[in-house]
Amino acid sequence: MNSQSLFKQHFQHSAVSSSEAHGRVNLIGEHTDYNKGFVLPTLIEQKIEVSLSPRLDSKIVGISEEFGEKTVISDSNTDGTWIDFVRGALYYMAKEGQLIKGLNIAVASSIPTGSGLSSSAALEIAILRALCQMVGYELSSTKIAKIGQLIEHNFIGTFCGIMDQMSSSKSKFGQVLFLDCENLNTEIVPIFEDYTFIIIHSGSTRKLSEGLYNERKRETEIATKFLSISSLRYAEISDLNIIKDPKIFRRARHVITENDRVLKAVQFLKDNNAQAFGNLMNESHISMDKDYEISSPELNHIVKTAQSYGALGARLTGAGFGGCTVVLSSNNRRDNIIKKILEHCPKSYLVTNIGQNIAPSKNE
Ligand code: GLA
Repeated sequence: MNSQSLFKQHFQHSAVSSSEAHGRVNLIGEHTDYNKGFVLPTLIEQKIEVSLSPRLDSKIVGISEEFGEKTVISDSNTDGTWIDFVRGALYYMAKEGQLIKGLNIAVASSIPTGSGLSSSAALEIAILRALCQMVGYELSSTKIAKIGQLIEHNFIGTFCGIMDQMSSSKSKFGQVLFLDCENLNTEIVPIFEDYTFIIIHSGSTRKLSEGLYNERKRETEIATKFLSISSLRYAEISDLNIIKDPKIFRRARHVITENDRVLKAVQFLKDNNAQAFGNLMNESHISMDKDYEISSPELNHIVKTAQSYGALGARLTGAGFGGCTVVLSSNNRRDNIIKKILEHCPKSYLVTNIGQNIAPSKNE
C-alpha cells in the first residue's frame, strides 16, 4: 500500500503533503565518507514514501506498515523506535524557524531495513521533504542531507558520514554520484552500458546503532591522532609505519586504499572499462573483510559464488556486518549468476538490478 492510502485508511482523511526518497547502493568507497574521502553511490528503485498532515495538539501519531502504530508527545525523549526520525525532523524544522506542533504521519517502505541500502537516510529525506512541502518552506538538497545526518547522529545514535543522505537527497535514477565528502562537491557519472550491478541481500541484518559502526569510526579517529592529521584523506600508505597497533593500522589501510580505488573506479566508469572496475570491487571486498573486518560468512559466500560464476566484481555494500552485496556482471551472464547465487546461498535474495537498459521505468 502506498503512504497516501495508508494515511487515509488510518486517519480517515487525506494527507496534506506526501513525498518520497530512494534508497541507494554504494558501488565502491565504504567507510570513507566520515574520513572525508570519496564515495560512488547510485539510487535503487526501492523507496520510502511519507504522507502527513499537521495536528492541533502536540502529538505525533505515526503509522508504518512495517512497524505499526505509535503515538507520542512530540517533544518527548527518544525511545529507539522509528518515531525518533520524526522527532528529529520536527526538532530541526523548528531550528529553521518552522515550528510544527503535532503531526499525523504514514510511512510506506520498499527498502529492506538494516540491509546497507540506506533506508534510514531515505526516511529522513522523505520526512523532511514532506514537512517542507506541508509548511511551504524551501531547503536545498544539500541542507536536507545535512539535517538528515544530524537526525542520525543526535536522535538515532549512529555517527554516520554524509554519503547516504547526499545520495538520497541529490541524485536521480540511472546516475552514479561521485561525491567528495570533504567539500560535498559532486559529479554525475553515467552508468555502464551492457553491464548490470546486481544487488543481492545476504539474508542477515544488523542495526548500525548497535555500536560496531561507531567503533570503526573511533578506530579511524585514533589513526588520525597517531598520524597527527585531521582525517585519513590526507594519509598515504607509507605514513602508516608509525602506527604500532596492528588493528588501527589495518583500519587506516582500508580507508586509504579504498579512497584510491574510488578515484580509479570513477575513471574506469567513464572509460566504460567494466573489467577493471570489477577488479577494484573485488579488492575492495578483501580490504573490508580483512582490514576493516565488516564482512560476514554469508556476504563472503555470495561474493565467492558470484566470482566463480563469472562476475566481473563483487563486494559487500554499505556499512557491512550483514546486509547486501553488489555484483557486477555482463548483461548476458547476469541471469545465470543470480540463479547460482540464490541456489548456493540459502538465505540470499535479489533486491534489484541496476544498469543502463534496465533502469526502473519511473524516471524522476
Ligand atoms: C552507512 C553510513 C554511511 C557510510 C556507510 C559505509 O551507510 O550511513 O555514512 O559510512 O555506512 O560506507
